[in-house]
Amino acid sequence: MTVDDIRKVCVVGAGTMGAQIAQQVALGGYPVALFSRSQHRLDTAVQSNAKLLGRRVEKGKLDAAECEAALARVTTHTDLEAAVRDADLIIESVAEDRETKRQICEQLDALAAPGAIIASNSSTMASSFFADCIAHDDRLLNVHFFNPALVMQLVEVVRGPHTSDEVVDASLEFVRRIGRTPVLVEKETYGFIANRILFIAMQEAFRLVEDGYVSMEDADLAVKNGLNWPMGPFELADLVGLDVTEDILSQGHAQTGEDRWKPTAILTGHTQRGELGRKSGKGFYEYAAK
Ligand code: 3HC
Repeated sequence: MTVDDIRKVCVVGAGTMGAQIAQQVALGGYPVALFSRSQHRLDTAVQSNAKLLGRRVEKGKLDAAECEAALARVTTHTDLEAAVRDADLIIESVAEDRETKRQICEQLDALAAPGAIIASNSSTMASSFFADCIAHDDRLLNVHFFNPALVMQLVEVVRGPHTSDEVVDASLEFVRRIGRTPVLVEKETYGFIANRILFIAMQEAFRLVEDGYVSMEDADLAVKNGLNWPMGPFELADLVGLDVTEDILSQGHAQTGEDRWKPTAILTGHTQRGELGRKSGKGFYEYAAK
């Protein structure tokens, strides 16, 4: 398997990440089969991508014909077998639930072409969590995108103990071909690279506010103006989703046993009230009124 053997891609899961990953791959010129069990989710994904790319055309950042072509390269499927057929690279981006991902991996093992690369976009589960679901696990690894995937340049390619060198190399080159910057994570570690740095830094911000040193607004101002982050940690947590943020932290706590990952009350208070960030209209900040 080399990068030239990748001719068609399948993305499994059409949530916020899966939808935009599929579109980014299509912008790179690849035909993409996007799978979800829910037709509604697929329709929402297609509409949202059309809107985002349409805005680029309006701003003169994307050619109208290329926009049409990139949108047309994404086909949608509610039948996994049809979606996976002929795919040389499959990126799973289903819910961050271990059993769900294991079930998907078992299905992919049965349905995918024998040489197809199976890549997990999980941010909390290294591919070793699923290695026993895949008969030939040398083709399994993590290929981890960032949110929003149509904007963020970084993709982490994480080598599992089972992953072959050629699958790692093909994945790194594939990421370059879709216009993204890969980094190779040589060994599995919780949070990989960027999330391990980011979420521990966010924890520090949460604690500073919880302990009364600074307001949430000023903590965000400090980080934006002093560290040049595009968003402060509270704004970013709202973008990522407070439920996702809490899940990444609790998984980190459970998997490493380190207290630094333990979700703080300032965060869990919001998730318990169903305040999940931008997607629910309220998180650390309110969005409905904006
Ligand atoms: N989806 C897709 N595109 C989006 C978007 C979204 N949710 N939000 C903004 N954009 C696009 C806009 O369409 C615009 O594109 P264009 O210039 O090509 O037209 C571009 O981003 C800039 O948008 P705006 O001018 O409206 O706003 P900003 O300049 O403030 O940028 C932002 C918004 C790109 C979200 C920027 O604030 C940012 O980079 N924030 C940090 C994001 C970040 O750190 N992400 C990592 C999170 S951790 C993670 O993903 C790991 C995972 O495992 C949880």
